[in-house]
Amino acid sequence: WIASAIGLLTAYLLGSIPTGYLLGKFLRNIDIREHGSKSTGATNALRILGKGPALFVLIVDVLKGAAAVLFALWYYPWLANKPHLTPPANSDLHSLVPWLVCFSGLAVLVGHGCSIWLKFTGGKSAATGLGVLFAISPLVGIGAAIVWAGTLAIFRVVSFSSILAAVAAIALVLSFDHPLPYRLLVIAGGLYVIIRHRANVRRLIAGVEPRLGQANSERT
Ligand code: G3P
Repeated sequence: WIASAIGLLTAYLLGSIPTGYLLGKFLRNIDIREHGSKSTGATNALRILGKGPALFVLIVDVLKGAAAVLFALWYYPWLANKPHLTPPANSDLHSLVPWLVCFSGLAVLVGHGCSIWLKFTGGKSAATGLGVLFAISPLVGIGAAIVWAGTLAIFRVVSFSSILAAVAAIALVLSFDHPLPYRLLVIAGGLYVIIRHRANVRRLIAGVEPRLGQANSERT
């Protein structure tokens, strides 16, 4: 089980890489968590650091999610084929691979939202979640990305689009023929992303959530 835990830890540590925070420190010597929505994600990077850095954060955060799942998809089957590493008690590791991939996907999301390097703070895991989706089901990933971009073009509120994309991903994964662990990953991951947006939901209901490109106001 130690070898299995190493895979999950790798996913969590990948998610923990605090792209937005590091860029804030590197470019302006600020803690991005003290500004805007306090999130380390690409949307807050756009508010605080500008378009180029935000695009960089977006790309790296998507890649983190995809890399964690792709690593798990390689690592666990590899581990299952190493009898000297996996004693007879673990001989059914093959059948556990989809579940370990599922937990790796969740681990990278939690790592992004609760980074070990940032006292368990971080981003809202929407971009990282998109990377996870692309890796386990490109069709669901593309569907969620279309919903995100389409609703963003109409309403111009990123958090609203992220929440709708998470809902769309759950609906899509349930309508395609995916294994149960992948379905549960998307359902749990989608709910995690929505819960991470709870402060945004409160602002949306109060009608004070800023639109894309709108001047930043300090808030939590
Ligand atoms: O992915 C995060 C986005 O949906 C909202 O970010 O900074 O407006 O809370 P933010």
